[in-house]
Amino acid sequence: MGVLVTYNPKKQEKTVNFLTLTGMKVLIATEKPFAKTAVESMTKIIAGAGLEAALLEKYTDRAQLLSAVADADGLIIRSDKVTQEVVEAASRLKIVVRAGAGYDNVDLAACTARDIVVMNTPGQNSNAVAELAIGMMIYMARNRFTPGTGSEVSGKKLGIHAYGNVGSIVARYGKALGMKVYAYDPFVADKSVFARDGVVEAASADELYAGCDYISLHIPATEQTRRSIGYELLSKMPRGATLINTARKEVVDEQGLVQMLTERTDFKYATDVAADIQGLLDEKFGARVFASEKKMGAETAEANINAGLAAASQTVDFLLNGNRKFQVNK
Ligand code: 3PG
Repeated sequence: MGVLVTYNPKKQEKTVNFLTLTGMKVLIATEKPFAKTAVESMTKIIAGAGLEAALLEKYTDRAQLLSAVADADGLIIRSDKVTQEVVEAASRLKIVVRAGAGYDNVDLAACTARDIVVMNTPGQNSNAVAELAIGMMIYMARNRFTPGTGSEVSGKKLGIHAYGNVGSIVARYGKALGMKVYAYDPFVADKSVFARDGVVEAASADELYAGCDYISLHIPATEQTRRSIGYELLSKMPRGATLINTARKEVVDEQGLVQMLTERTDFKYATDVAADIQGLLDEKFGARVFASEKKMGAETAEANINAGLAAASQTVDFLLNGNRKFQVNK
């Protein structure tokens, strides 16, 4: 690390500047910015390691991203899309770190073809997303805080679809609220985790949906999961059921959702990621559907700091030491 300390005798002030000894640049490009404190600490990590830190926030035009990334060696993003076009514009790029869990916004094939390492920061914003899922559940149970009789979540059955970092925290909070918690995740290798967490493992997605008053979705958006939550599955849910989606809008089959909401006037849907047809859903189904204005699962200062700092450290550690832990395009 290179540090330049200058002293201003008039003001009796000491200024510390980090020198960019490596000649490498890390761009933090976030259409939806991190909290200010997170950005400050990220910049310190990057500059402190002798790399230049550049910031592009709230950009409104792809051209701004294409131009900013042109001389970047590392790129830190949130839900920002890293497409083939971005990869082509970034001739020096060696690493992309998605500060967050889901990396469906990154064209992995395009990165891999250019030997660009892609990483995420698993677990760093999970608590924030889990808290939002629980908040949405209570919000829907209480008729979106409008006058009238709601219901309590205590004593109800909560189904966790995908038992990863977020799902397991939602399970813990659900239990604390007095809910009976079930989970379905065929990808969990160590099945003993369910018993340890006091969660009942469902044998299939059908069984999970059929038995639960609330389903909280935590599956990633992949080729296999896109539009996988449709009418067939949802129609198995009991009367008065609610689907909570803090995962990705793409995993829900929107036509199937419309059919379910139309046929089952007892059914509710809350999502952190507005559907493509959100306008129609709001118009047709009113208070039975809710969508946050902009994805807010990870929008807490704590999550921004956790994920942002992890992203900055991982980027630096790869560029300087070649550490590939958390690489997702192996
Ligand atoms: C994630 O995948 O980590 C969350 O969806 C958070 O996304 P965001 O950083 O765009 O808020």
